[in-house]
Amino acid sequence: MKFRAALTALALFPASTAFAQDCTAYTAEDPYDLTEAEIAAFYDCLKESMAEGYASQGDAVGNAYRDWTITQTAPGLAGVHGNRLLITYANEFAAEQYLQYAEDITMPVGSVLAKESITLSSKRQAARPGPLFIMTKLAEGEAPEADDWLYAGVQPNGKEMKIKQSFCHDCHVNYDYQDNLAYPLEEVRISQ
Ligand code: HEC
Repeated sequence: MKFRAALTALALFPASTAFAQDCTAYTAEDPYDLTEAEIAAFYDCLKESMAEGYASQGDAVGNAYRDWTITQTAPGLAGVHGNRLLITYANEFAAEQYLQYAEDITMPVGSVLAKESITLSSKRQAARPGPLFIMTKLAEGEAPEADDWLYAGVQPNGKEMKIKQSFCHDCHVNYDYQDNLAYPLEEVRISQ
């Protein structure tokens, strides 16, 4: 019976849909049970379509960030940005300083960090692209209440996320001793 149901399902959906579902299937009870290989597989499965999504409505960062410097060897699982796998890219102004993961710094004006996310949804039992989170360092005095950082986000469908600056900054300010940057998990950092 089971076999026949599977055959019927295959007949109803085009092959590409079936494959996409296969490689995004997420059934772990606890995301921290995922192995490195499983995390890598989710990223491999979604990396092309997620970049296409972020770029699809013409967002400048969404179109550019994949050419920037990648700061991680693998996606990191950090609870704070939701149950999400995260991977951060740094633009040409940010990369050199960012890759030192140092304290007591001020990032150069024009620095942009863009962080991809993959949402692990136990409800849908699938890994799906989440927002692209963005931080841009403005000129001195342009956003004094946020140490001159501008927070932004692009939805997986390419549309701009509505963001309250204080929502992002109230948490990032916990890292004000390193210019409000939290940095990726240590085990996945690429250092310079
Ligand atoms: C509850 C705390 C919290 C909130 C709220 C939060 N962040 Fe973060 N953010 C973090 C942590 C922790 C990291 C580092 C984790 C990682 O990347 O693995 C991070 C990393 C980042 C990075 C990569 C640069 C860095 O800090 O190393 C960007 C970009 C970013 N967040 C943007 C945003 C935006 C935009 C918002 C608001 C929509 C936001 N964050 C809200 C905690 C938070």
